[in-house]
Amino acid sequence: MALRRAAQRLQGVAASLTRREMGLDATRIAVASSLRGLPPREFPAPRAHQRRGMSHRPEDTVYGGPRPSEPRMTLKRLRAKYDAGERISVVTAYDYPSAVHVDMAGIDVALVGDSAAMVVHGHDTTLPITLDEMLSHCKAVSRGATRPLLVGDLPFGSYEQSSAQAIDAATRMLKEGGMDAVKLEGGSPSRVQTAKALVDSGIAVMGHVGLTPQSISVLGGFRPQGRSFETAAQVVERAMELERAGCFAVVVECVPRTVAAAVTAAVSVPTIGIGAGDATSGQVLVYHDLLGFMQHPHHAKVTPKFCKQYANVGKVITGALERFKTEVESGEFPGMSYSPYRVSDEDSNRLVRLLEQKGLDAAAEAVLDLRYREDGGK
Ligand code: KIV
Repeated sequence: MALRRAAQRLQGVAASLTRREMGLDATRIAVASSLRGLPPREFPAPRAHQRRGMSHRPEDTVYGGPRPSEPRMTLKRLRAKYDAGERISVVTAYDYPSAVHVDMAGIDVALVGDSAAMVVHGHDTTLPITLDEMLSHCKAVSRGATRPLLVGDLPFGSYEQSSAQAIDAATRMLKEGGMDAVKLEGGSPSRVQTAKALVDSGIAVMGHVGLTPQSISVLGGFRPQGRSFETAAQVVERAMELERAGCFAVVVECVPRTVAAAVTAAVSVPTIGIGAGDATSGQVLVYHDLLGFMQHPHHAKVTPKFCKQYANVGKVITGALERFKTEVESGEFPGMSYSPYRVSDEDSNRLVRLLEQKGLDAAAEAVLDLRYREDGGK
């Protein structure tokens, strides 16, 4: 009896604490919204499953970060989608804003691809990006995308030497980067062994066959794969080996659609195509490529020809930046409309007097002059 009463009392304390926390959140939202000139918005308190990893995240309650309406994508849900014959959508993300957009669009999987080396860091290949750089991208993405399954690419040089090296790198991707799974490229016997070692150590692995950009040194460049009998058979066999090693899905990149169809029929895990036609279980595209981010000739050069551009965001960005420059130079921006903060007449009079006492007549004059203009020149 006494025990039950004690438990009831504890429950009551917990409930009132939660209500108090929610009240504080609402105040912070209202303050943040008014500072940004927005009407206060109501956000539900985040549920435990909507927070990834960290418990000290006040900002997401203040600014209303992504609020998934659906539950988080898990390997089980992904599998259920595949079993139901529904196609899987995968898009790369590299930072908080791209992750938020991928999340809000309801994309199933956010891949923190080593394509970051090219589309974010401006390299010509994916080879230069380091594990630490990838971890930084992963951390930002895991803050922004709370609903999609998060897969982090193991970068070139972080996993090829031994299974132990791969486990170390992948462990960091999960522990520090907040990823749910990792992706590794290639299906050679040593790569399959690595994939198995990762899965055995409790790390979910996505495989990747066909064009594996980390191997351009041996492939001789970004070239479609599987166009001969031998190489097509190899793509299928490698995908099957990766499945046997325990991979939960396999990316199939830049192969003829017949070869991708063969892979998809040969394995019993989802195949995620890129430049591989329409016969796969899902599709992946690089965020910047599909949004048409690039205007710079270098980036136009690395946008692959199989990529459909769903927008021309680059044009919008350049146009906005040009308008900003023009308006700064002409003095149109910020103007009165974007100069929201005021000091009371009383305080500004005191300021003027202080400035005059200090002999800063020009400064005092500047205050008076602006006040005159703020009052409409009256
Ligand atoms: O790094 C990446 O973006 C990828 C996708 C192209 C599959 O590996």
